[in-house]
Amino acid sequence: MSHPLFRTKKIDKILHDAKTMADDHHGGAGLKRVLTMRDLTFFGIAAIIGAGSFSSLGMAVFSGGPGVVVLFIICGIACGFTALCYSEFASRIPVAGSAYTYAYASFGELFAWIIGWALIMEYSIGNIYVAFSWSDYFTSFLHKINIHIPDYLTCSYREAHNIAIATANNPGQATGSTKELLNAWNTAPVIAGLRIIFDLPAIIINLLITCLVYRGIKESRNFSNAMVVLKLSIVLLVIMVGGYMIFHDDLTANWHPVNSEGVHAFMPNGFSGVMAAVSGVFFAYIGFDAVSVLAEESKNPQRDLPRGMILSLIICTTIYIVLALVLTGTVVYSKFENVGDPLAYIFEPQNLNIGWMQMLVAICAVIAMTSVLLVFQMGQPRIWMSMSRDGLLPPVFQKIHPKYKTPSFATILTGVAVGAPILFTDKDFVLDFTSIATLFAFVLVCGGVLLIPVKEKLPGKFNMPYINSKILFPLIVAAAIIIAHFAADNYFTQLFNITEDNASFNISSIVFWCIMIVLAIVSFFKNWSLIPLLGLSTCMYLLTGMTGMNWAWFGGWLAIGLIIYFSYGYRKSRLAAA
Ligand code: ALA
Repeated sequence: MSHPLFRTKKIDKILHDAKTMADDHHGGAGLKRVLTMRDLTFFGIAAIIGAGSFSSLGMAVFSGGPGVVVLFIICGIACGFTALCYSEFASRIPVAGSAYTYAYASFGELFAWIIGWALIMEYSIGNIYVAFSWSDYFTSFLHKINIHIPDYLTCSYREAHNIAIATANNPGQATGSTKELLNAWNTAPVIAGLRIIFDLPAIIINLLITCLVYRGIKESRNFSNAMVVLKLSIVLLVIMVGGYMIFHDDLTANWHPVNSEGVHAFMPNGFSGVMAAVSGVFFAYIGFDAVSVLAEESKNPQRDLPRGMILSLIICTTIYIVLALVLTGTVVYSKFENVGDPLAYIFEPQNLNIGWMQMLVAICAVIAMTSVLLVFQMGQPRIWMSMSRDGLLPPVFQKIHPKYKTPSFATILTGVAVGAPILFTDKDFVLDFTSIATLFAFVLVCGGVLLIPVKEKLPGKFNMPYINSKILFPLIVAAAIIIAHFAADNYFTQLFNITEDNASFNISSIVFWCIMIVLAIVSFFKNWSLIPLLGLSTCMYLLTGMTGMNWAWFGGWLAIGLIIYFSYGYRKSRLAAA
């Protein structure tokens, strides 16, 4: 493509630039290569298991019932294919920058910028959700040991404000966490007419993590590895104790609960109930791709990045499936409404009644989420650093600290990007925002692999198996259409029956099936590789679960990104000067 918007960076040039920047521009002060395959796997697990399993899983279970396990499997498959695509790129382009760098090599500059911009939501905005969840568990842990922080310093202004409006006519209806929010609103000090309500623990943890990441990769690695071992041990304990109790107390009937129509079902709210949980479930998987931003700090990135990514994904998918089964087995799904600490909740007195497990889970959640914060806070500056190298962001973003060898300015800015919105946003909003942006980035990564030339198999490096999709993919699409038609009565007719309630799901599903048919035709002629095609299809399918509001916010975010690109990056790009 010849238009400057689609100018691509050649892979050789990306590798050469990264080396030159590290060796010359900073007087040889590049990032330190200290990470092994084990470290990368640990980083993956550190990033993946966090607020998704400890917090958003509660509402996901409430929406999908035991059938939410199916969504975990679909997300695991989508992420598995995507991980293979990331691995293919990572083995060819072992430099920091993740999906952004990969898009630059395949789709060109405009798409690369869009991905880089979307990744800010995955890394920085996603961390806001994790910081809020961290604060929830930390505060409840403090409560258990009799330390109380005022309510107005443990929640977001928006949440308290929304509850105050919702319960304005009947404050007595507030219970549990709603009561705390209302109390925060009523007891908050007022300065110049403004109620002072903010999440202090979330701000403090963000500050501490920023300092740690600024201080250096080696220290961060040791800290992260220790936390991963601890959190895996405790998650396994939850699975073992919960699993034992399901059979000991004969609770297996919870896997076929009665739905609102009095019918016993694995998916009490149907498949649409399962799909409604997509943001929360997919969020739990975000993180395996963060491993790819550590390319310049790993000892043998072409071999170890793919292995670390795939291994961490396999381990976490297995854990999630079992965890979802344990959760829905121990307590009936309908009790999880508005439960923000589901893993501790199952051990509460009205459920399994095991006090010491409740305490352990609270501690574990704080640890698990700290490690997620750490990995994402490390990822964001490295993406900005790559964008700055390409001239799409000012040079200060690639400044490396002379002593600590970390991207210093970009690290501090990440801390601000996570910390500032904590003051005026809330959990639900950032959860949806993060999931849609990350899925979008995954779609482009899988699509990107289809566009790069086939390479020779090289020993010692990751080589994605090539399976010709010519016949297979059209067959898979045809089979999916037939199964959808017969499994759900009049599935395709119903899709065109668009109402206000189903508009976003139906319209995105129609678009999805049209794209599938086009891809099936093109793959027949182009002999594309099957794995990236399946990654592309499954991630696009998950996008159909996003609401119209999610799309609107995401569109707005992209529009802001494009304005910035055209006013700075388009002119300053190193490719423009070339
Ligand atoms: N997967 C990460 C978490 O669940 C983002 O916290």
